[in-house]
Amino acid sequence: MSAMVDVGPNADRSPQPGTGVEVGLFKEAMTRFPSGVTIVTTRDEEGRPHGFTASAFSSVSADPPMILTCLDKTARCHDAFLAAQRFSLAFLRPEHWDLARRFASKVEDKFDATFTTDPYGLARLPDALAYLVCEMEQQVPAGDHTILIGRVISVTLGEGDPAVFYSRNLRHLRDLQR
Ligand SMILES: Cc1cc2nc3c(=O)[nH]c(=O)nc-3n(C[C@H](O)[C@H](O)[C@H](O)COP(=O)(O)O)c2cc1C
Repeated sequence: MSAMVDVGPNADRSPQPGTGVEVGLFKEAMTRFPSGVTIVTTRDEEGRPHGFTASAFSSVSADPPMILTCLDKTARCHDAFLAAQRFSLAFLRPEHWDLARRFASKVEDKFDATFTTDPYGLARLPDALAYLVCEMEQQVPAGDHTILIGRVISVTLGEGDPAVFYSRNLRHLRDLQR
């Protein structure tokens, strides 16, 4: 027989079935899921780059290669991504924490000389752990986010350790070991 594991005093603040889950509790649960960190970029019709830090990433399909990321509908870059034919994702390393914070902020110009331009005209982070270019395949409205599904048309591999987002902090893999 399987048993529910009680993980602390806040373990079950769920209301009765059918009455919904408190947003704060849901967010708290999400902090317990470690993920990698990416910077997602695109460019608009005028050629201006747009980008945001995203931990919401998943591989979707191997053949054809497809991935997804989720973008908050209130993000300033949301409309640029909705109109985009292509977008890119860079998998970050711990050396990129400042960049991760900048792309999660509301600063006007997030891009600097760290970035180069790839053959598709997208801003590329040259020393990313991996760099993917995607054709926009599907955009799925989902609650307060839009799921961007991309077909991967280019992959560049880098070297190093991954940046990890866990318990509301950017971390090194070794920080996760107890
Ligand atoms: C580690 C980390 C992960 C994040 N993941 C996401 C994400 O997956 N989706 C999202 O929409 N925003 C995410 N954010 C917040 C966005 O990066 C932030 O709201 C960004 O400024 C939005 O872009 P804007 O300047 O165009 O509004 C994350 C922030 C951090 C620090």
